[in-house]
Amino acid sequence: MKRNITIVGVGYVGILNGLLLAQNHNVIALGIDAERVQKLNQRISSIAHDAEIQEYILKPELSFVATLDKEKAYENADFVIIAMPTNYDPTTNYFNTDSVVSVIKDVKQINLNATMIIKSTVPVGFTKHIQRELAIDNVIFSPEVFIYEPELNEDHFFNSKNMQNLDEFKALCDVIITNRNSEDLADVQEKVYTRDIFGNN
Ligand SMILES: NC(=O)c1ccc[n+]([C@@H]2O[C@H](COP(=O)([O-])OP(=O)(O)OC[C@H]3O[C@@H](n4cnc5c(N)ncnc54)[C@H](O)[C@@H]3O)[C@@H](O)[C@H]2O)c1
Repeated sequence: MKRNITIVGVGYVGILNGLLLAQNHNVIALGIDAERVQKLNQRISSIAHDAEIQEYILKPELSFVATLDKEKAYENADFVIIAMPTNYDPTTNYFNTDSVVSVIKDVKQINLNATMIIKSTVPVGFTKHIQRELAIDNVIFSPEVFIYEPELNEDHFFNSKNMQNLDEFKALCDVIITNRNSEDLADVQEKVYTRDIFGNN
């Protein structure tokens, strides 16, 4: 069954998910940059230096349009995928989730039937908090995998973000899976899972 899916944020995450879903569903991408939206409607990718995405967006069978109009984007949506940036501020140890909150409020106002799926990186407990604060249950989080490997000089490892800041990593993760336990994880023991629980093997 074809669904109406709106993607908010036409960066890497939004475009990738949007184009894949547009193979089988009707996708509207909501952006904030008029030039980028116009280009997407001319099937020019917003992702620089990625020839594969540019090739993919030209497929005629994709049901994919971009807009700046949030009413149009939300009014008939079955799902709204939230993929805007939520930048981390290392001085406050805080993720800026303001734009995510404002999208959730807009969707709540325009279309109560839409299910919202958060792809943006948000702190632990954010989804439950926003559900309570806005008295809604139609917002869910799509889990994401992070790696902490400071000796790996790469931003990504098998498509997962490699983080260099342990405090940021610990603040972000609901569950931490580690080969061996470590003093560095003592303050977040409740979410650490390690093979050490099976004994000293
Ligand atoms: N869930 C996952 O698997 C996963 C994986 C990687 C990244 N992420 C997270 O997804 C989010 C997006 O990452 P990205 O790499 O695509 O970012 P990006 O910076 O490439 O793109 C974000 C886009 O959102 C747009 N935008 C900003 N504010 C907006 C608003 N108010 N309304 C509509 N559009 C707005 C920007 O113009 C930009 O096009 C980040 O929070 C990132 O950490 C999630």
